[in-house]
Amino acid sequence: MNLKTYPTKLAVANQFSEFLAKFIAGKEAVSIALSGGSTPKIVFDMLVANYVDTINWNAIHLYWGDERCVPPEDDESNYKMTRKHLLSKVPIPENNIHRIQGENIPTTEAERYGQVLETTLEKHNGIPQFDLVILGMGDDGHTASIFPHEIQLWNSSNNCEVATHPTSGQRRISLTGKIINNAKTVAFIVTGGGKAAKVNSIINKTENYSQYPAAHVSPDSGELYWFLDADAATDL
Ligand code: 6PG
Repeated sequence: MNLKTYPTKLAVANQFSEFLAKFIAGKEAVSIALSGGSTPKIVFDMLVANYVDTINWNAIHLYWGDERCVPPEDDESNYKMTRKHLLSKVPIPENNIHRIQGENIPTTEAERYGQVLETTLEKHNGIPQFDLVILGMGDDGHTASIFPHEIQLWNSSNNCEVATHPTSGQRRISLTGKIINNAKTVAFIVTGGGKAAKVNSIINKTENYSQYPAAHVSPDSGELYWFLDADAATDL
C-alpha cells in the first residue's frame, strides 16, 4: 500500500494530477475508471491547467466507477461534472469515452455497462481489467457506489450492480469488487476530516473495519495508492 499524505485538498489534487500524467506517459492506450465527487473535480481542473499540452489524450479510454441514475445533463451526473471540468477542455476522442447511461432503466444499464467492460477492456483471469481505477470514499466508508447497507453488492459475480443511496434513495450504477480488485492499479483520493475515523479504521484494520466497502479494496496486483489530505489522515 502506497500512502501519500499532503497538507490540503488542493495539494492532493495537484499531486494526484501529476501521478496521473506520469501514469499515462508513454502508454499507447490506457483505460481509466473515474470517480465522482468534489475531489476529482479539482483534479480535472489541475489536469487541464497543467497537462493539457503534455498528456497524450488519444491514448486515454475513460470509464466511470459509478454513476447516478439520472440523465447526463442532470447536475447530479458524474458524467456532466467530468464533461464540464475535463472532457470539454481536452481532446479525448469521443469513441474513447464510455459513459454509464444514467438515463436508462437501472437494471438494464448495469447489464449493458457490464457488457461494455467485457467487450472493450483487456482481460486478466478472464475478468475485464482496468489499467487504473480512481476511487473516492464517502464519510460512511462507501466507495464507488457500494454503500455499507448494501455491502453484499461488493461480492457480486456481476461486473456492475444497481445500488441505492442510503439516505436519498437515489439509484446508482456501480462497479463491483470483482472489477475493482482486478485492476492493475487502484488509487483512492480521500480528503476531509469527516473521513479521518474511517480512513484510520480501514488502513489500520481496527475493530469492525470490514463493515466499510472501501476496506475491501485490495487489488490482486497489490498496486493500491491512498492520496490523503492532512484532515483525512488526522487519525493515522
Ligand atoms: C459519487 C462518488 C462518491 C465519492 C465520495 C467522495 O458518485 O458520489 O463516486 O463515491 O467518491 O462520495 O466524494 P468527495 O470526493 O466529494 O469527498
